[in-house]
Amino acid sequence: MYPSLEGKVVVITGGSTGLGKAMAERFGKEKAKVVINYYSEDQMKEVKGIIETIENAGGRATGIQGDVTKEEDIKRMISHAMETFGSMDVMVNNAGIENEVPSEDLTLEDWNKVISTNLTGQFLGCREAIDYMLEHKIKGSVINMSSVHQEIPWPHFVHYAASKGGVKLMTETLALEFAPHGIRVNCIAPGAIDTPINAEKFSDPELKKGVIELIPMGYIGKPEEIAACAVWLASSEASYVTGLTLFADGGMTQYPGFQAGKG
Ligand code: BGC
Repeated sequence: MYPSLEGKVVVITGGSTGLGKAMAERFGKEKAKVVINYYSEDQMKEVKGIIETIENAGGRATGIQGDVTKEEDIKRMISHAMETFGSMDVMVNNAGIENEVPSEDLTLEDWNKVISTNLTGQFLGCREAIDYMLEHKIKGSVINMSSVHQEIPWPHFVHYAASKGGVKLMTETLALEFAPHGIRVNCIAPGAIDTPINAEKFSDPELKKGVIELIPMGYIGKPEEIAACAVWLASSEASYVTGLTLFADGGMTQYPGFQAGKG
């Protein structure tokens, strides 16, 4: 547990499902005040359940609909945090999408959709959060959601890999730019995690086996294992950490093909 997170205001984009949901619930356990952004109205029910879980754990929470690719929606999320909880200390830019398409068939529309959600959306979240923190002299923490694919090339997911490569350098650049203000900017790079985005793939035993072969630790990660990274990065325990990519991938980025000692 991280007592420094008690009462802190945390905004999480894409908080209704998957990693976003796990992070929202974990921040709730830390007794933070959580603003859960969700994309579409049909996610309201899920969000209500998360709010209940957080409040039962001693935290506080509120939901807000919004599209991270829209400047006005991101601004609204931060105003909502201020109006509801009086401040904003932690921004988690988590909303992201992916779809598989061979690169020669990838349409400009699909390219733009992934880049605008995963990269531009995270930039807008960073910019608005940092602007708020500067104005209110808050030594806050910004956490971006990258992926092992900020390092590992991923055929048929060129738009996704490009967006995550962008998140890495965006994170490092902003970390450097705002370090003098005490604002820390880091990212988490998960490997294969058991979330709805992967549900279809992991429901096929052969595909699942193929993924596990790429993970030296031998299992698909749990959303809670990513949430554990987020609370640490947001807490005062990580007070001297900025510009970091925290890989949480069971060793996926450690060249699993070499595990048998050949080469
Ligand atoms: C993707 C997953 C994928 C994992 C490892 C993640 O960034 O969201 O779909 O299984 O990388 O390839």
